[in-house]
Amino acid sequence: MNILVTGSNGQLGSELRELEKQYKQYKFFFTDFHELDITNAEKTMQFVKSNKIETVVNCAGFTAVDAAEAQKSEAALINATGAKNLAQACAKVNALLIHISTDYVFEGRSFKPYTENDTAGPKTTYGKTKLDGEIEVIFNAKRALIFRTSWLYSSYGRNFIKTIVEKAKAEKELKVVYDQVGNPTYAGDLAKAILDIIPKVPQKIRTEIYNYSNEGVASWYDLAHAIIRIKNIDCQLKPVLSKEFPSEAIRPHYSVLNKARVKNEFGISIPHWRDSLEKCLEKL
Ligand SMILES: NC(=O)c1ccc[n+]([C@@H]2O[C@H](COP(=O)([O-])OP(=O)(O)OC[C@H]3O[C@@H](n4cnc5c(N)ncnc54)[C@H](OP(=O)(O)O)[C@@H]3O)[C@@H](O)[C@H]2O)c1
Repeated sequence: MNILVTGSNGQLGSELRELEKQYKQYKFFFTDFHELDITNAEKTMQFVKSNKIETVVNCAGFTAVDAAEAQKSEAALINATGAKNLAQACAKVNALLIHISTDYVFEGRSFKPYTENDTAGPKTTYGKTKLDGEIEVIFNAKRALIFRTSWLYSSYGRNFIKTIVEKAKAEKELKVVYDQVGNPTYAGDLAKAILDIIPKVPQKIRTEIYNYSNEGVASWYDLAHAIIRIKNIDCQLKPVLSKEFPSEAIRPHYSVLNKARVKNEFGISIPHWRDSLEKCLEKL
């Protein structure tokens, strides 16, 4: 099977690259902005057709949540128009599109884990453009899975885990928020789940949404606490409220995702965030 991975220099794309050797049944086409700019509809269609792509995993995105507030049109172009271009190209050749979305499509004020059927209500430009991307996929793709994930990290790229390791080594005390809770997700686990799920996707599927994040719940403070314990870093952590860290984009207070659907339909098991955190930290 020919699989196109877009945005493959990012966290999730790099984890898919790392798994390439374990999935010899797939022929991968790894591209990032310079090889394939997904905002270019014509080139996207051409790439998918000429390489006989059967599945696309769209890891490309405008993921800078705060910067998106000032760069609304750039965020919309990549997160919504890019998704539309891929959906149309996939529809043309009857390829499966696996599109990655986010917990930021929700308002973040719930008190029980979000299911795929809960009403979206994004509060940020990033979240709105990602929801628009989902809508483009729903309208334009023939066969697609949308995976909503959250708090993604990896040994590749920039993320909270790496920032905490660096800052905790450099500073005696760190303030970390404890009033935002969610599911930290190791991009390596999501990458593996995607590759395991692809052969199980029914030929007749239309567009379906699935939540995928690691099991267990944490606040950013809990996550930072686990990081410094596992790495044995001597640093005092101080739990603080979000208002002490004003940011351009409002962060959701509650981002926990209910994963029952993906587990039941595809028979996968999902690791606990702490076990996956240990695996990732070993690589740093
Ligand atoms: N990171 C998170 O916490 C998180 C949480 C939930 C959901 N997600 C979603 O998960 C997906 C993967 O996230 P990630 O953290 O792996 O993202 P990432 O590390 O930011 O990688 C995104 C990649 O897409 C590339 N890209 C940007 N514009 C492009 C274009 N027009 N054409 C092709 N490639 C382009 C980026 O290149 P440049 O770096 O050169 O721009 C980058 O290599 C995204 O859809 C994201 O919205 C992420």
